[in-house]
Amino acid sequence: MKHLIVYAHPHPESLNHAILDTTVHTLKKIGHEVVVRDLYALDFQPVLKPEDTASMKAGQTPKDIEKEQEFINGADVITFIYPIWWTGLPAILKGYVDRVFAYGYAYAIGKEGIIKLLKGKKGFTINTHGTPKDVYDENGMTAGLKVTSDIGIFEFTGIEPVDHLLFGSIGSLDEQAYKGMLKEVRDTIALHFSK
Ligand SMILES: Cc1cc2nc3c(=O)[nH]c(=O)nc-3n(C[C@H](O)[C@H](O)[C@H](O)COP(=O)(O)O)c2cc1C
Repeated sequence: MKHLIVYAHPHPESLNHAILDTTVHTLKKIGHEVVVRDLYALDFQPVLKPEDTASMKAGQTPKDIEKEQEFINGADVITFIYPIWWTGLPAILKGYVDRVFAYGYAYAIGKEGIIKLLKGKKGFTINTHGTPKDVYDENGMTAGLKVTSDIGIFEFTGIEPVDHLLFGSIGSLDEQAYKGMLKEVRDTIALHFSK
């Protein structure tokens, strides 16, 4: 399978980067093709500007958006790896979705309602957050984060969400706990993507 990983974290020494490395290594080990779009390293421009919408309306997709859409076209599985910032996607990734998952490319509106244009692809999400997991489970945040991204972004565009890992209490755990998280990443990949 062809995997596209869209990664959003500014620091190479972060847990998110360790999750990225583990994901890439595990997928390649079991024979998958992997492309990583590291949005900070690319210095991706995340703001949907009036000129973007004007040129898309005129049938001309801006080059940087078109490039990312081609990576999506070539992928069977799209994986988002990012930390939860202010209960959602870091702005650079939110802007990637705003601009790349554009009307007419990822979805359209027809007589029957929403037309999902990315059908046939699978979605996988891995998040970290500082709040303890049981707090987010109890106050509804875990469910909310899953609804907004798995349904609001993936299902909305026809991508089938296969799993969504959320790791909490980041920053206040011991080494063993972080190793356990990376093991869960490996196990989840094996569960869904073993050949
Ligand atoms: C700008 C910003 C906003 C954050 N917002 C949240 C939040 O809403 N909920 C939460 O639990 N943690 C929040 N955090 C904590 C991060 O999720 C946490 O530091 C990160 O997941 C740890 O992983 P890392 O070591 O790879 O950065 C925030 C951190 C930053 C820098």
